[in-house]
Amino acid sequence: MKYDRINNSLYVKNRKQFIEKMVGHTLAIFNSNDIFPISADSTMPFQQHRDILSLTGVDQEESILVLFPSCSNEAHREILFLKETNDHIAVWEGEKLTKQAAFETSGIKTVYWLQQFPTIFKQLMADATGIYLNTNEHLRANTEVETREDRFIKKVKQDFPAHQVLKSAPIMHKIRSVKDAIELELMQKACKITEAGVRRLLQFIKPGVWEYEIEAELAHEFLRNRSKGFAYTPIVASGKNACVLHYIENNQQCKDGDVILLDVGAEYANYASDLTRCIPVNGKFTPRQNEVYNSVLHVKTEAQKLLVPGTIMTDYHKQVGLLMEEQLVNLKLITLDDIKNQNPEWPAYKKYFMHGTSHFLGLDTHDVGLWNEPIQAGMVFTCEPGIYIPEEGLGIRLEDDLVVQESGEPFNLMKDIPLIAEEIEDLMNA
Ligand code: GLY
Ligand code: MN
Ligand code: MN
Repeated sequence: MKYDRINNSLYVKNRKQFIEKMVGHTLAIFNSNDIFPISADSTMPFQQHRDILSLTGVDQEESILVLFPSCSNEAHREILFLKETNDHIAVWEGEKLTKQAAFETSGIKTVYWLQQFPTIFKQLMADATGIYLNTNEHLRANTEVETREDRFIKKVKQDFPAHQVLKSAPIMHKIRSVKDAIELELMQKACKITEAGVRRLLQFIKPGVWEYEIEAELAHEFLRNRSKGFAYTPIVASGKNACVLHYIENNQQCKDGDVILLDVGAEYANYASDLTRCIPVNGKFTPRQNEVYNSVLHVKTEAQKLLVPGTIMTDYHKQVGLLMEEQLVNLKLITLDDIKNQNPEWPAYKKYFMHGTSHFLGLDTHDVGLWNEPIQAGMVFTCEPGIYIPEEGLGIRLEDDLVVQESGEPFNLMKDIPLIAEEIEDLMNA
């Protein structure tokens, strides 16, 4: 791990919160992610399942967490199963968690090797009446790949058809969406690393630079600050490329007079930061670029004020739509008639602003959370309005990461990252 060990009080607290929500004489199981193959003998770097991270901090493949709070054997109320290390693994892969290190990481006293899992699990299931299974219920989850968790769920359902099945996902979504102070510190660190990357770029970007050179500068700055790298695939989109929302080719040369949209963020300790800034290639926005930029900035400034306890995100998104509508009329991109005649299912502003304004942020970039409940202090959201005008070769989005406070405006984890157009120009020309 590149990051410093995290205080395990975070995981003790998260497990306590999970257990408090469990009902009946039941247990809950959480599996790690697989290491995904590429081909021949290569694999993707390991990415731990976010729920295991959230409940244990154990950042190692094949680990399993069992929670069985009503188990008569006190030692089995929390169990961690780990892959047993050996001399061969030590030589080829290096250090793996010992039982003591796993205890120090997670605060879980009972740590067994993985080969004991089938026997102990059978005993626990004979005692329990039901099992919490951990399915992926993220609203935008869309994958055909069967995960380690999916395989485990299939087997449990086959082997224990008489047990009651309960869902872990809504509990995890609740726990993970409200951040602990320890998590906020880690997220702040991720944002500071992103800031270092952006500041480096303001001195680097010039006409003729290639998008991938900008990506490389960021990667350099992130890695030298103990990040594993980008929290998500970076978007470095100059000119009209900025109008392709998921542009990740990053293979074009940046031209004098264009604006570059950068949607980039460092991860730190598996926590994501998620930033968007727009930068003029030659260090100076044209009057039109400036006008569009300031419209987006206005929507962002007003929208983020709505991220207060009690807000319902569907209402929030409607209100942001109205803010955007006003700006698009000012920019002469839509007319009052367009609004009068619009399809309520797809309002006129969507022609130039077709994505959502905010999402939960945390261990995942598009983090889990309960979208229909009022938002609470400690939740972290992005705020990222944008205006995309392909006919002008211009796309502007501005995005910061915001912590909902008990009262008042949210705390901006990216408050020190240059945002005002003139400030960006001044830094580029310093
Ligand atoms: N970078 C992904 C997003 O902004 O949602
Ligand atoms: Mn983003
Ligand atoms: Mn985002």
